[in-house]
Amino acid sequence: MSDRYELKRPVFFVGFMGAGKTSVARRLARQCHVASVDMDTYLERREGKKVKAIFAESGEEGFRALETDVLGELAAKEPLLVSCGGGVVTREENRAILERAGFVVHLKVSADEAAGRISDTSTRPLFQNLDAARERCEERGPLYERVADATVDTAGKSVPAIAREVQNVLVKEGVLCQQRK
Ligand code: S3P
Repeated sequence: MSDRYELKRPVFFVGFMGAGKTSVARRLARQCHVASVDMDTYLERREGKKVKAIFAESGEEGFRALETDVLGELAAKEPLLVSCGGGVVTREENRAILERAGFVVHLKVSADEAAGRISDTSTRPLFQNLDAARERCEERGPLYERVADATVDTAGKSVPAIAREVQNVLVKEGVLCQQRK
C-alpha cells in the first residue's frame, strides 16, 4: 500500500524571494505524488523569455501583467501545487484570485535569511540590494498575511521539514486527502 494523495483545491505558495516556495512545492509534490508547477518557470516557457529579460524589456508593470494572466490560467487547471513569484500579492486582482481559487500557504522568511539562501541574485531583478530587499519584504509582510490561509515560519528549517509541516496542515484542512490503493 503506497501513500497517494489527491488535491481537492489548488495550493498557492506565497512569500518573499528565497522563502523556499519552489523547493517546498517540489518536495511536497514528490512525497505525495501530486503535481506542482512554478509560476515563473511556466511564464518563462509560455513567453519564451526569462523573467530578467521581461523586466529589462517591459519593466515591472509588463511582468506583472503577464503574471496575472498566468495566475488565472493556473488557477483554472486541475488542482496543482503552485509556487508563486514573491510579488504576486502586490496586485489586488491577484489577491482576489488567490483567495477565491485556492488554499494559500505563506512561507515566512526575513530578507536577511533569504539573502543567505539565494545563490544567484542576478536572476532576481528585485533582489539586487539588501537594504531595498529588507524594505520590500517589510512592505509585503501584511499582504502575504492577508491572503494566507496558513503561515509556516521557515527560519532555520530544512526544505523536508517545511514540506512535512505543510503536508500536515493541508491534510488537517482537508485540502490534501489520502487515497488508499
Ligand atoms: C519577484 C519574485 C520572483 C520573480 C520576479 C519578481 C518579486 O520570484 O517572480 O523576479 O517581485 O518578489 P521568486 O519569489 O520565486 O524569486
